[in-house]
Amino acid sequence: MGCEGFTIGVLTLSDKGARGEREDVSGNLISEMVRPLGLVARYQVIPDDIATIELTLCRWADEVGLDLILTTGGTGLTPRDVTPQATARVLDYEIPGMAEAMRAASLLKTPHAMLSRALVGVRAKSLIVNLPGSPKAARENLEVLMDALPHALAKLKGDPSDCAISDEPVKL
Ligand code: MTE
Repeated sequence: MGCEGFTIGVLTLSDKGARGEREDVSGNLISEMVRPLGLVARYQVIPDDIATIELTLCRWADEVGLDLILTTGGTGLTPRDVTPQATARVLDYEIPGMAEAMRAASLLKTPHAMLSRALVGVRAKSLIVNLPGSPKAARENLEVLMDALPHALAKLKGDPSDCAISDEPVKL
């Protein structure tokens, strides 16, 4: 796959990471994975704080105008897991199918996949994707979306072309 020229933000939610007590393996891993899609123009590790997450997502979508924002961490059930709540507050609309696809594929790997409350949706022209926090979970979830991301991002940028043209040819 060639470089698609999109601008990307990677936001890691981790109290320990933000304090410098844990290396951000997941953030680095997903930054590598999306390299074929474009440039990681913003990268930050911030604590699991709902207001800080909201503010960062809004800045990256509204002021920086990133095409894709990937968050990692904070989608589970501990009291500090607030990424989906913060994301829900800033989204213009959800894309439930993308989150459903991640959970469906992940359930084939572990029953714990149902514990991730990850959301996917759009704010302004930015696609925001929540990924779980462990490197394994972040990779497995992002892998599910990779084939659909170029088309989704092109459509968000206003590509008016007929979807059928970019679909696989119909075999009769
Ligand atoms: N999805 C996949 N594909 N693989 C995994 O190992 N781990 C799960 C889940 N999703 C997992 C996964 C676990 S154990 C949890 S608790 C939730 O993601 C939430 O993770 P988070 O709190 O780090 O965001």
